[in-house]
Amino acid sequence: MTTQRLYSGMQPSADSLQAGNYIGALMQWRNMQEEYDAFFSVVDLHAITVPQDPAELREKTRRTAAQYIAAGIEPSKSTLYVQSHVRAHAELAWILSTITGFGEAGRMTQFKDKSQRYGESATSVGLFTYPVLMAADILLYQTNVVPVGDDQKQHVELTRDLAERFNARFGEAFVVPEPVIPQGSARIYDLQNPTSKMSKSADSHAGVLWLLDDVSVTAKKIMRAVTDSDGTVRYDRDAKPGVANLMTIYGAVTDTTAAEIEDEFAGRGYGDFKKAVRDAVVAEFEPVRTRALELLDDPAELDRVLAVNAAKADAVADATLSDVYDRVGLLRRG
Ligand code: TYM
Repeated sequence: MTTQRLYSGMQPSADSLQAGNYIGALMQWRNMQEEYDAFFSVVDLHAITVPQDPAELREKTRRTAAQYIAAGIEPSKSTLYVQSHVRAHAELAWILSTITGFGEAGRMTQFKDKSQRYGESATSVGLFTYPVLMAADILLYQTNVVPVGDDQKQHVELTRDLAERFNARFGEAFVVPEPVIPQGSARIYDLQNPTSKMSKSADSHAGVLWLLDDVSVTAKKIMRAVTDSDGTVRYDRDAKPGVANLMTIYGAVTDTTAAEIEDEFAGRGYGDFKKAVRDAVVAEFEPVRTRALELLDDPAELDRVLAVNAAKADAVADATLSDVYDRVGLLRRG
């Protein structure tokens, strides 16, 4: 059997990734790259669906790539590249947009949330077609599995629908991909507001853990995380969202289950528990942070690695795109 293909990506929309990106996605990527032929992109074309400062966007793109590598994505094993370096993404997105329903795209909850947040005048058509570009990312590589946090599941479902629709109309051009959502840690919540997802675009950053933050800042944020007055370390997502979230984070970085954590902290207070979470998170993040900053000290080398990988991605993506162009009936340039 040939090796199955994996595809995933993240937006370079902040100077640092946040703990949700790391736990919900990067940790899965790192493990899965051993088993799959993996492609990981920094999706800069997605990032510009909301306004970005050009110089900052370039820097954030490098920083995101550096964090992938620092977290253990090996650019000699996996294909780690910048989305805009491979022109086929935008081209396939156009083709797919012609088979996507307007209502279908309008039902995407992330679009509805974002367009509500930015208001009609600041909502671009790009934000609306964002999931179609994501479908193009995935389908260009004949992807079998897409590891993502659960907020992206709906987009992968749309990708499957578009692949099936295209294949039914034009013949088997695409593999129909499956989402892979991590058990238990698919959604990390804000430490101050544990019923909202941890997000780079949160209004306040007091409850957001950044991978590249100084460890003292991370430590403080964990010690100040919202809990409850019950005082027992017990997993109850509805009644005790703050504690449940800290348990999820702790469980992910120490590879332990909720039941094991409940046993470990039976009869002990939140102070002890938070210190353990703090130490575990700092121990996990610190080497990643140090390595990312080292990589960023040599941007020319980073750019070189990204260029080599973009060439590998280009070859795969071009093959799919020219097959799609033929199937759709676009006349070849003579
Ligand atoms: P993005 O950049 O918002 O997030 C990157 C990855 O991190 C996960 N994630 C979380 N997981 C758990 N808890 C959280 N609080 C949390 N916040 C973010 C996301 O689920 C995601 O897996 N559209 C995508 C990027 C993308 C993509 C793709 C992904 C573009 N093309 C193709 C897969 C395949 C996005 O905006 O992710």
